[in-house]
Amino acid sequence: MVKICCLGAGYVGGPTMAVIALKCPDVEVVVVDISAARIDAWNSDALPIYEPGLDDVVRRCRGRNLFFSSDVERHVGEADIVFVSVNTPTKARGLGAGKAADLTYWESAARMIAAVATSDKVVVEKSTVPVKTAEAIEKILDHNGRDGVGFQILSNPEFLAEGTAIRDLLAPDRVLIGGRETAAGRAAVQALKDVYARWVPEERILTTNLWSAELSKLAANAFLAQRISSVNAMSALCEATGADVAEVAYAVGKDSRIGAKFLNASVGFGGSCFQKDILNLLYICECNGLPEVANYWKQVIKINDYQKSRFVNRVVSSMFNTVAGKKIAVLGFAFKKDTGDTRETPAIDVCKGLIGDKAKVSIYDPQVTEDQVQRDLAMSKFDWDHPVHLQPMSPTAIKQVSVAWDAYEAARDAHGVCILTEWDEFRSLDYARIYGGMQKPAFVFDGRNVVDAEKLREIGFIVYSIGKPLDAWLKDMPAVA
Ligand code: NAD
Ligand code: UDX
Repeated sequence: MVKICCLGAGYVGGPTMAVIALKCPDVEVVVVDISAARIDAWNSDALPIYEPGLDDVVRRCRGRNLFFSSDVERHVGEADIVFVSVNTPTKARGLGAGKAADLTYWESAARMIAAVATSDKVVVEKSTVPVKTAEAIEKILDHNGRDGVGFQILSNPEFLAEGTAIRDLLAPDRVLIGGRETAAGRAAVQALKDVYARWVPEERILTTNLWSAELSKLAANAFLAQRISSVNAMSALCEATGADVAEVAYAVGKDSRIGAKFLNASVGFGGSCFQKDILNLLYICECNGLPEVANYWKQVIKINDYQKSRFVNRVVSSMFNTVAGKKIAVLGFAFKKDTGDTRETPAIDVCKGLIGDKAKVSIYDPQVTEDQVQRDLAMSKFDWDHPVHLQPMSPTAIKQVSVAWDAYEAARDAHGVCILTEWDEFRSLDYARIYGGMQKPAFVFDGRNVVDAEKLREIGFIVYSIGKPLDAWLKDMPAVA
C-alpha cells in the first residue's frame, strides 16, 4: 500500500488529501499538523474550515484510509510520498519584508523530513513557493538526510479556489507536476502521476521541469488577479462616463481569446493568495534585475488598493461627506462567498476606512464569527507600499464595531448598507423590510453587484453599484478617489 503524508492541515492540505483518499481507497493518507487544535477539529464533527461538499468527503474516508494526526514525525517517517502544504505568507520583517515569501515553515518542515526519514521519499511542494525553492529544499534534504536515504523533489502546485475546492479537486482544469529530468526524477513524477490518474484524465496531467511548475503557479495567480484589476479599473471609467461595467465585461469576454470568466467588477479581490503571490513574483523579478516587470505586476495590487479606497470614499461622500456617528451595516466579511476565510478580505480595509471616518459599523456574515472579525480588525497589517487605511485600530475604534446575527439586525437604524461579499442570501433579502427600519435617506452600496438596483430604487433606496451608471444623487456628490 502506498503511504502518503501531508504536512499542513489547512485550506489546501485538508481538502486535497480528502479527495486523494476518496479517489484512491488503496492509498493510506495521513494529514499532520503542528497545530493540535486544528487536528482535533479535523477529527471532530465541526471541521476547521467551511467548504461546500467537504464534510461529505471527509465522512466517507476518515478512519478508512484518511487520518488526521499530530504525530508528525512518525507519519512522515512511514510515508512514501510527503506533500508539504504549509503556509508561505509574505515576510513581515527583514530582507524582502512586505514582498518576499516567508519560507520559515517550509524550511523547518524540510529539516524535520530529513531528520526522520529512514527510507527514500518523494517530497512534493504543494505550497505556493518562489521559483527555485526546490533547489534550496534539495540542499537541505541532501545535507541533513541520513546516509543511503534518497529524496526526489516535485513541484505540484495547487490551483483550487476556496468555496469550490471540492469541485475543483474532483475535476481540475489541469494537474501540474514538475520534476528533475533524471531517471529518478522521472520515476518520482510517474509515481505522483499514478495517484492523480485514478480520476484525472491523462491529457490534463501536465509534466514540466521544476522551475516551470513553480513559476506557473505564481503566473496563473498573477494573470487571474490582473483580470480583476483590469475590470475594476474599467469600472471607475464606467462610473465616470455612464457605461455599464457588466455590459462592457460581457462584450469584452465574448471574444474567445479573452473569455467570459473572472471579469466581475468588485470592491476588490481578497484571499490569502493573490496579493501574496504577486508580491512574491515582483520580489523575484526585482532580485533578477527586472524592475520593469516588477512594476508591471505591482500595478495589479495598486489598482486593487485603489478600488477599496474608492469604495470607502464613495460611501462617505454620498452621505454628505461624513459618516461620523452613523451606523453602517456591512453585509459579508469573508473574501468571497461559500467560505469563512477572511484572509486579505477587502472587508477589512473597507471597515477600517469607515471606522477611520468615525462610522459605527455593524457586520453580518453567515460564516465569520465575531472573534474572527475582532481579530482581523485589531490586527496591524503590513504596509506593503502606501495604503492609507491600514493602521492598527485603537481600542476606542474597536468599540465602533459590532457583529449582528442576521442582515436585518445589522441594517436596523443604519444610514447605509455595504454589501462586501456576494453571499447568495443577500440577493433575496426583503429589502423593503430593511428600508423600513433604516434612517433616511437610505443607501445601499453594492460592492459585488448582487442586488437588483432598479428594484431597490423603486423601494426608495439610493443605490451605488460598482461600475454602473450613477444615481442623480451620487452624480451630485462625486467621490474623490
Ligand atoms: P493554512 O494556513 O490554512 O494551512 C497551513 C497549515 O500548515 C497550518 O495549519 C499550519 O499549522 C501548518 N504547518 C505549518 N508548519 C508546519 C510544519 N512544519 N509541519 C506541519 N504543519 C505545519 O494555509 P493554506 O491556505 O492551506 O495554504 C497552504 C499553501 O498552499 C500556501 O503556500 C498557499 O499559498 C498555497 N495555496 C493556497 C490556496 C488557498 O486557496 N488557500 C490555494 C492554492 C495554494
Ligand atoms: C485563487 C485562484 O483562483 C486559485 O486558482 C488559487 O489556487 C488560489 O487563489 P481563491 O483566492 O480561493 O483562489 O478565490 P478566487 O475565486 O480566485 O477569488 C479571489 C478573489 O477575487 C475573491 O475576493 C473574489 O471575490 C475576487 N473576484 C473573483 C472578483 O472580484 N471578481 C471575479 O471576477 C473573480
